[in-house]
Amino acid sequence: REQVELINSIPKAELHVHIEGTFEPELMFTIAERNDIRLKYKSVDDLRAAYQFNNLQEFLDLYYAGAYVLLYEQDFYDLTMAYLKKCHEEKVVHTEIFFDPQTHTQRGVPFKNVINGILQACIDARNEWGITYRLIPNFLRHLSEEDAIKTFKESLQYGELFTAYGLDSSEKGHPPAKFKKVFEMVRTEGFLTVAHAGEEGPAQNVWDAIELLKVARIDHGVRSIDDAELLDKLARIEMPLTVCPLSNLKLKVVNDMADHPLKKLLDHNIVATINSDDPAYFGGYMNANFQSVTEALDLTNDDIVTLAVNSFKASFLSDEEKQKWF
Ligand code: HPA
Ligand code: ZN
Repeated sequence: REQVELINSIPKAELHVHIEGTFEPELMFTIAERNDIRLKYKSVDDLRAAYQFNNLQEFLDLYYAGAYVLLYEQDFYDLTMAYLKKCHEEKVVHTEIFFDPQTHTQRGVPFKNVINGILQACIDARNEWGITYRLIPNFLRHLSEEDAIKTFKESLQYGELFTAYGLDSSEKGHPPAKFKKVFEMVRTEGFLTVAHAGEEGPAQNVWDAIELLKVARIDHGVRSIDDAELLDKLARIEMPLTVCPLSNLKLKVVNDMADHPLKKLLDHNIVATINSDDPAYFGGYMNANFQSVTEALDLTNDDIVTLAVNSFKASFLSDEEKQKWF
């Protein structure tokens, strides 16, 4: 169809992707083998068959288990390069990559292995394909704020590589207020902030991420649909939402893609964007996400263009860099 062509060919930016969530089963087996780690699944098919989730936590348990085979700089390089190759194939010309330092440092993997591997792949992809990038460490919200502060301080030796810091993992029981202090430290050092909010948690978490954490973007934010006053505010202050449709479906944030609030958010003039979140686990990269909502919500060509333009508008590219794309 004509819309498939438009989706595949229009330049896009991805603003919400966890690099650990791009770990395809095939690569996971390859790296596990060379690192002498035994996976608890017999085969790639076996592992892929386990990708059925009833909620965020069931997914996170598998996602953290998968990340355990990543040890060396080469592992992080291979992981990131495989994702960037997908970007190149799908006309994703700019990407803002999340990674979870604590998932790795907690088990003794040096910060430098993580960052050097990811960074080198980004540099190579920029040279090879012209893909631009930003790197955004995320704090794990199921761990303490003290641990986030410790991680932040350790990360500062690579601070010039980072544009922003984020907040991910289990939203229930770990509201934005828990991280008020560390986010203040992050902003004081001159970084932007983002936070997952209103994915499984209530619209109130979106308010709190804005007011307590002073974020520049909300990751997910789909529960904002429950709060008319919040919707007005998001539109008025042009607060971007990095929406992840296939993720929402796989984690049962929505029961059916036809029920997804994306179209309502767009019609409310909210700067919503489409993103893949953890594409290896949720069954699709950027274009599959665009495709899925386009079909389920009857998006128009204008909607698709708006979503692509929003992705650059909401990005952390400089104004000059943005002008290249819209
Ligand atoms: N939500 C929270 N934490 C995460 C996600 C997500 O969608 N993906 C990876 N970590
Ligand atoms: Zn996410």
